[in-house]
Amino acid sequence: MFDIQINGKSVQLDVDGDTPLLWALRDTARLTGTKYGCGIGLCGACTVHLDGEPVRSCITPVSAVVGKKIVTIEGVGGARVAQAVVDAWRRLDVVQCGYCQSGQIMSAVALLSRNPAPTDHDIDDAMGGNICRCATYVRIRAAIHEAARALG
Ligand code: FES
Ligand code: FES
Repeated sequence: MFDIQINGKSVQLDVDGDTPLLWALRDTARLTGTKYGCGIGLCGACTVHLDGEPVRSCITPVSAVVGKKIVTIEGVGGARVAQAVVDAWRRLDVVQCGYCQSGQIMSAVALLSRNPAPTDHDIDDAMGGNICRCATYVRIRAAIHEAARALG
């Protein structure tokens, strides 16, 4: 049994320590906004924040997150940066099928939290690990710039 901080709440997870955080979130905590894409850390669909840093939950064991703060797409809203990102995503109609988008938003929020005025290069660096099969990359980049302007 692990006592984990998820979205500001203490959650008891009855799983083995080597269970990937992704499956503990989805199957045990019933937070299904975090998506499974590749399962090997390559696509970014499963991105969550661990103490504010974006991590791939599919390759992060539950035993590694004890005592740390996890934020998922369900809990990221409300904070100033996250709200600016979500607003920009809506204004620019970024989403196509939507499957990759919770991971995209978590990576974008992490980027803007540490760099409030990213260049195209900064965005490509930070977002390069988030794959979108619908190729929404141009709108994602534009939405990050728009969110940065709104925050500025
Ligand atoms: S599902 Fe985790 S990186 Fe692809
Ligand atoms: S919006 Fe469809 S995979 Fe990204």
